[in-house]
Amino acid sequence: MDQPITIALTKGRILKETLPLLAEAGIHPLEDIGSSRKLIFETNLPHVRLIVIRGTDVPTYVKLGSADMGISGKDMLLEFGAEDMYEPLDLGISRCRLMTAGRVGEALPLGRVRVATKFVNVARRHFAERGIQVELIKLYGAMELAPLMDLADLIVDIVDTGNTLRANGMEPRELIAEVSSRLVVNKAAMKRKYQSIDAIVSSLAAAVQRRSGGEAVNVG
Ligand code: PRP
Repeated sequence: MDQPITIALTKGRILKETLPLLAEAGIHPLEDIGSSRKLIFETNLPHVRLIVIRGTDVPTYVKLGSADMGISGKDMLLEFGAEDMYEPLDLGISRCRLMTAGRVGEALPLGRVRVATKFVNVARRHFAERGIQVELIKLYGAMELAPLMDLADLIVDIVDTGNTLRANGMEPRELIAEVSSRLVVNKAAMKRKYQSIDAIVSSLAAAVQRRSGGEAVNVG
């Protein structure tokens, strides 16, 4: 008997890359997620359902066990913590970089550096490790605007193509982390529902492996 499994997915851009991978792993939502306002979706596997939420909320649902598993950007795991979760698989999708960035050619101030970001925990750790004193300014989007408006000296943000930085007269500075979507599993659920969860992890690992034409990357 299969145990019921809830998988938390990140809505938006990441979802467009997640659904084909789920399909390759044999998991198909019964209705078109993109054109629905629903938040819970049944799948072709009667014991598996999907919930579609903001990326910032996926770690919370999985940590607290409301979702047994989730697909979360590494950036979210670094920012919100990955305790009480296993991270068995790098799915290799939604790749980008967490970086610091500043205005082209502009030197940092001698004193405290003002850093605008929505990744305040990542930024705090990054600058603390370098012994740089910072004032963190929490924003919720359009970080690239902050240095242009003299709200901040630097930003910490996701860089994909680099187009947003270039379009705003900014340049990438330091790489903080390579980001991709990871499969995460609630630790207690892994024990209680091992059989069902292991089957899904294995199908996804096989799908990732087929795409890469090599070994699935197990990130422990
Ligand atoms: C992200 C990020 C950058 C942009 C980087 O924003 O915050 O602004 O993408 O991509 P690029 O290097 O290809 O230009 P997103 O569009 O996801 O919106 P957000 O501000 O809501 O995060």
